[in-house]
Amino acid sequence: MRISVVGCGYLGAVHAASMAELGHEVVGIDVDGPKTAALNEARAPFYEPGFEELLARTLATGRLRFSTDVTEAAGAQVHFVCVGTPQKRGEYAADLRYVQEAVESLLGVLAPGDLVVGKSTVPVGTAARLAELVGEKVPGALLAWNPEFLREGFAVHDTLEPDRLVYGLPAGDDGATAERLLDAVYAPIVARGTPKVTTDFATAEMVKTAANSFLATKISFINAMAELCEATGADVKQLADAIGYDDRIGRKFLNAGLGFGGGCLPKDIRAFMARAGELGADQALTFLREVDNINMRRRIRMVELAREVLDGSLLGKHVAVLGAAFKPDSDDIRDSPALNVAAQLQLQGAVVRVTDPAAVDNARRLWPQLDYAPTPEEAAAGADAVLVLTEWRQYRELDPAAFGTVVRQKRVLDGRNALDREAWTAAGWTYRALGRRTD
Ligand code: UDX
Repeated sequence: MRISVVGCGYLGAVHAASMAELGHEVVGIDVDGPKTAALNEARAPFYEPGFEELLARTLATGRLRFSTDVTEAAGAQVHFVCVGTPQKRGEYAADLRYVQEAVESLLGVLAPGDLVVGKSTVPVGTAARLAELVGEKVPGALLAWNPEFLREGFAVHDTLEPDRLVYGLPAGDDGATAERLLDAVYAPIVARGTPKVTTDFATAEMVKTAANSFLATKISFINAMAELCEATGADVKQLADAIGYDDRIGRKFLNAGLGFGGGCLPKDIRAFMARAGELGADQALTFLREVDNINMRRRIRMVELAREVLDGSLLGKHVAVLGAAFKPDSDDIRDSPALNVAAQLQLQGAVVRVTDPAAVDNARRLWPQLDYAPTPEEAAAGADAVLVLTEWRQYRELDPAAFGTVVRQKRVLDGRNALDREAWTAAGWTYRALGRRTD
């Protein structure tokens, strides 16, 4: 099949290459010339394990190319919309400008029988509105909504081996036509027996925001328990293990620590609340405000903990921050809890040096006022405290004895409950973590 993918950011670039991997002929369209040029040369504009290899492999087949010219999407039968829906400045609501522009830009190239497929995360009601626009301007062209659940760091795996497919379809024969086209796009995935949910637009749109809200709630639940553990002397890690053995609860997403960040969970729960308000159903989601509050409190608590460990004052203290990305295996710093804490520490007078295996360049652009170092050893040289705020494997595997020789004071704050507490304590470190006892 011939496919176009509009928007070659994180989601779109991975989707385009993955569709070529499935055997389709794909053109990826993006307004950013340097980005499409890099992609055409098999250079990933972001850090994602396995993506560059996939890109090189699929470009070499000749089935994949990237362009800034949307007219190159003409002739494709399925057009994926993969642009971002960021949070509006100063508001909770999602900014739908890019989705609107992407669909409008496709109107000129669509032919009857073509299918526009939205993958972006959008507020309920968007798909119905866009379907009307497409049907009105290009009679015979259809629209479907097919939300994407990929996680950064696992984007290639999650796209090629999703745990479910969700199709939001128009009613009647149009729905059947759209479903046939989507099944043809995802043929190998469908053939493997991947669960498929076919539904209406509103449900498909809600599946994505509901899933992300549930994940955010799970994280904030365990972080609320961490607050109580801190108040009672209980241990949140053991608590999570113990409740997680109940398979109705499950252990995944019960890692207490600095909480969630990134380009999805924080903005998605806020946009969901904003949309519920517009629909007169805000009460249904007031709990998400608390989920957000609990999440933001963890960052403040981390700064307090650093102050406690540093004998009550941050002023002039040297602090090494290990981690800038919002999570490991990513160079994404959007709403990064680690960077937020680093900036707060600096504002409160600490001398902060940040390191990260992948995200330093991005972090430097956003927070040029912070100091950066290429390695944990350089970041921690002469430090009064070390804060592990993103649980990269490299940090989990640090040798506490050797690492202890570079710092001034052996104090480590484990913001992600990722280190081996016993090993660090045995090597003479004062170990502190969110939601865990200090022995
Ligand atoms: C998320 C969803 O998982 C994905 O399905 C959706 O498509 C996009 O949003 P992502 O933002 O890549 O994916 O990251 P995820 O792995 O979900 O982690 C989000 C944040 O939660 C990270 O900051 C992570 O550190 C934090 N987290 C995750 C915790 O604090 N504790 C946990 O137990 C799990």
